[in-house]
Amino acid sequence: MLDLSPQTDHLVAKLDAAIAPHMDWASRIPRCVEGRPDMRRIRHRFAAWAMVFLVIPASAPAAEEMVLSKVMKEQGKSMQLIAGGIAREDYEQVAKASLAVIDPPHPPSTLAEKFRLMSFLGTNVGRFKALDGETKERATDLANAARARNGEATIAAFQRLQTSCLACHTEFRKPFQDHFKP
Ligand code: HEC
Repeated sequence: MLDLSPQTDHLVAKLDAAIAPHMDWASRIPRCVEGRPDMRRIRHRFAAWAMVFLVIPASAPAAEEMVLSKVMKEQGKSMQLIAGGIAREDYEQVAKASLAVIDPPHPPSTLAEKFRLMSFLGTNVGRFKALDGETKERATDLANAARARNGEATIAAFQRLQTSCLACHTEFRKPFQDHFKP
């Protein structure tokens, strides 16, 4: 669901690369031919940077639903499909919905959301990812049981999958809501 650290490492590297050419301020101050700093061009550049900082927060309104919340809604739907599939012994549907739990459809999350999530998780990021990995493993077991058309094993695997969802909700749901939806 969320591959946080490789993505974040990648982003930080990209940001470093993007910022590096602008770090050498002294040699980059626009100068007139005579060598004096060109105040008009400096003012223009300052205005351009100010625009960048004004536009970034405006394009990431906090009120918009977070990608993580959208992913969770998809997970809820897949679980309903799985339960319905088990009731009808429709193992194709169970297997398909289990694969959707492993790789839920979702819009790409924004840079802003990744940073907000990272700062929320802090040192718990490893724990969060471990619980996410656990859910993926349980969903893989469920897909395999369903493909084998083994009713008992499918039901048992479904229960283990739900328990893994609960484990993360117990630890993170309330802190998440307190942090992002106070
Ligand atoms: C690694 C952590 C984690 C795992 C694993 C996880 N969830 Fe969640 N889930 C969350 C968090 C955090 C929230 C709170 C999100 C919010 O309030 O918007 C949440 C909220 C939800 C919601 C409520 C969404 C809403 O609109 O309020 C549903 C439904 C849900 N999860 C389903 C599942 C199912 C089903 C699974 C297992 C297949 C699962 N989750 C596994 C972290 C997790």
